Amino acid sequence: MPAIRANPLPNEWWRGAAIYQVYVRSFADGNGDGVGDLAGVRSRLRHLADLGVDALWFNPWYPSPMADGGYDVTDYRSIDPAFGTLAEAEKLIAEALDLGIRTIIDIVPNHVSDTHRWFRQALAAPPGSPERARFWFRPGRGEHGELPPNDWPSQFGGSAWSRVAEPDGTPGEWYLHRFASQQPDLNWEHPEVRAEHEDVLRFWFDRGAAGVRIDSAAEVVKDPALPDFDPEHDPHPYLDRDELHDIYRSWRRLADSYPQPRALIGEVWLPDPERFARYLRPDELHTAFNFGFLACPWDAERLRESITTTLAVHAPVGAPATWVLANHDITRTVTRYGRADTGFDFATKGHGIPTDLALGTRRARAAALLSLALPGSVYLYQGEELGLPEVEDIPADRIEDPMYHRTGGADPGRDGCRVPLPWSGTVSPYGFSAEPVTGEPWLPQPDGWAGLSVAAQSGAPDSMLTLYRTALRLRRAEPGLGDGPMSWLDAGPRVLAFARGSGADGPGFTCVVNLSGAPVPLPAHTAVLLASGPLDGGALPPDTAVWLRTT
Ligand code: NOJ
Repeated sequence: MPAIRANPLPNEWWRGAAIYQVYVRSFADGNGDGVGDLAGVRSRLRHLADLGVDALWFNPWYPSPMADGGYDVTDYRSIDPAFGTLAEAEKLIAEALDLGIRTIIDIVPNHVSDTHRWFRQALAAPPGSPERARFWFRPGRGEHGELPPNDWPSQFGGSAWSRVAEPDGTPGEWYLHRFASQQPDLNWEHPEVRAEHEDVLRFWFDRGAAGVRIDSAAEVVKDPALPDFDPEHDPHPYLDRDELHDIYRSWRRLADSYPQPRALIGEVWLPDPERFARYLRPDELHTAFNFGFLACPWDAERLRESITTTLAVHAPVGAPATWVLANHDITRTVTRYGRADTGFDFATKGHGIPTDLALGTRRARAAALLSLALPGSVYLYQGEELGLPEVEDIPADRIEDPMYHRTGGADPGRDGCRVPLPWSGTVSPYGFSAEPVTGEPWLPQPDGWAGLSVAAQSGAPDSMLTLYRTALRLRRAEPGLGDGPMSWLDAGPRVLAFARGSGADGPGFTCVVNLSGAPVPLPAHTAVLLASGPLDGGALPPDTAVWLRTT
């Protein structure tokens, strides 16, 4: 069994944790039907322990028609039968904890599935009924109510409104859905909506969940007047509204009421870092994903600026920063970093943008050492540790993502980063599905992934998996890493260099990342702890990162 980090602040484990994101459908398939499941995760816990992560964040595992990969939840207190049972989830939480790994579940407060009992009741009830008051039902505009109540767009393309047929079959009211039409938005003005979610939090905390990742956390509250969107008008009608903070204060009281306080982790996409940090005030969320860093291009000045701003806005609220390179919504890192435009933007996601995977992989390796050396916690999305590329040739009839379908294919969607993991073997399903295999993987795996499998990379000194395993082991052992201070060092233009630790005690640790086009000399050091690629004598080659012992 791997050593469990002796944490001086066990209740604040999230401050420096390495958290691995499990997209259950694509992680490991324990019953051979082609869909990942909890049995698969349980059978691979050893891989996660050997990797050296502190916690797992599971994407939604609840019963769902999967109109949006499980972010359309039918029942928040159960497990989708394709994934397993509640008893199995409880076992998984306990088994992971035995290996020193905590569990974070995904809570989706903005919307439910259109199959959720509340929405079915709302459809069966008349306009103006209490059942409809939990959602945003409104009459349409236009002479016959044939136009949506306002001009808000769905984030997945098209209007954010769909019209229902009333129980008597006539065209009726419209309901709001900021995502797919199968995901009606809840009305957070309604006391039952608040009470229900707090009860769901308790349900999972009582079952040992150590934290929750809060989906679309800054979008939950709407202006009840539902006005047309006016870019000049502040506050925004559906983003970052002040009323949200009261909800999260209440959640924080609930999380803190447990003897081992539970962590609240927000999915907060906001362009303004100061507004972002407001969610992290001491009585609100514990941490939130740092999407500014994730979206940042592979450019030294932009990254330096992102890191500096991140630390500057977190300091006053006392929250730890997070470092994220990818997740289940984002183009795979090795593909993105090999393109001419290395940043990430949903608006410019395209099909078949040329990429140099060797270059992208080199940069992804360097980015891994960069993010694992920065102060705070770090998130690792399954498959990043294998260096999986984006799969860009999924046949149209196999694509499930509503982002693809609602834009008529203009947006390639997110399935390309959700392809089932390769574990072993030379052909699909690459060990993803346990024997006997009765179904093919729910998304097709490419030919040519044999060399990327866990088995192929285990023990291979230059593999991405070995890099991550080594880096996570060092990160655990290194007193200056995780939460704590850092200071920038001057290493020349287009080079990021920083020291970790207070400098007063413990060994010196420096991370250097070369984003320039030429080798740079290594600063004074006593040992090289780890490098993301071969060093060039005493120099650090381009697109390479190194961890150095300095005293
Ligand atoms: C953010 C999630 O990460 C994404 O996958 C999902 O589609 C939307 N929220 C809607 O729930």
